[in-house]
Amino acid sequence: MTDKTISLQPKIYQAPMEGVIDHHVRKLLSMIGGVDICVTEFVRVTDTRLPRRVFTRLCPELLEGAKTANDVPVRLQLLGGNPEAMGINAAKAVAVGAKAIDLNFGCPAKSVNNSDGGACLLQSPHRVEAIVGAVRRAVPDRIPVTAKIRLGFNDRSTYMDNALAAAAGGANELAVHARSKVDGYKPPAYWEYIGEIREKLQIPIVANGDIWTLAEFQRCHEQTGCQAFMFGRSLLARPDLGLQIKAFCAGVEYQPMAWPQIVELLWGYYQITREVYPAKYLGNRIKQWLAYLKLAFPEAQVFFEKLKRLREAEAIEAIFSQELESPQEIINQKAIAAA
Ligand SMILES: Cc1cc2nc3c(=O)[nH]c(=O)nc-3n(C[C@H](O)[C@H](O)[C@H](O)COP(=O)(O)O)c2cc1C
Repeated sequence: MTDKTISLQPKIYQAPMEGVIDHHVRKLLSMIGGVDICVTEFVRVTDTRLPRRVFTRLCPELLEGAKTANDVPVRLQLLGGNPEAMGINAAKAVAVGAKAIDLNFGCPAKSVNNSDGGACLLQSPHRVEAIVGAVRRAVPDRIPVTAKIRLGFNDRSTYMDNALAAAAGGANELAVHARSKVDGYKPPAYWEYIGEIREKLQIPIVANGDIWTLAEFQRCHEQTGCQAFMFGRSLLARPDLGLQIKAFCAGVEYQPMAWPQIVELLWGYYQITREVYPAKYLGNRIKQWLAYLKLAFPEAQVFFEKLKRLREAEAIEAIFSQELESPQEIINQKAIAAA
């Protein structure tokens, strides 16, 4: 037992990250453990009923009971401003296999906001309520409908209006990224607003934003009183952060993943991406993940410098073989692949 524990069995969520956390990354993160719920990148809904393949491409887990290979439930995220179309597509997603629908009211990207989705909807809480309500009515009661908001658009003044609107629409749970759209990703995250929302609403609130370490988790828990926490960039920087937090709360000693294990993880990811992305993008996904890992592992910066200009499989794999503690592994994996 460690001497400083808190009596909490936290629920750990992987935050949705468009263009970064796809089903391959979800699989790896859930294999490591400590993650209770995953969320997909968003499906953009305009005014049409999307074909089945749009849902299964973004979320192949729909074909496997909407769970990762390690049995972690995956929620499908929708983004759009048209309540009717959102309802129709939520129902379609459920028909394709979704077991929970998450609604995106947080995306700050111009292209998304210009097409009437994401954080721009926070300027009109009645629209948030209408969208959540339409989706809630369109899917069976057994399907949780959850929402993810920021604290506002131009500033944070509408945080409670939007949270209340999501709840009034019938959201079963609300994740709050503790910044406005204009705050972007600039520190700090304003966790104190999450605490106010949690006190006022009857539904579970998931705290999100800048929970990078165990110490920050403790502070966020103190400030918000939440039982559920969502991690995006921080989970990529420390892929076992969920395990660290859970071990701490259970009073169990835990040795966080060290750099050699991270390299093995990256090597596994490299092998997956090598098969599925065009050769000209080879190594890009690894470099993208390293950009987050650099925040927690100084070795990641050095590794990134070695890889950053390389595009050829042979050169990239040579760098991996220097970095892996047992380069033999590369040879073995190649032999298995060839067999
Ligand atoms: C590259 C990137 C992509 C993101 N994509 C989404 C998304 O598709 N849907 C969403 O609701 N939030 C998205 N977010 C916001 C994250 O889910 C999360 O709210 C934010 O990164 C704060 O959490 P963190 O400090 O743990 O990263 C994205 C963030 C980043 C950095």
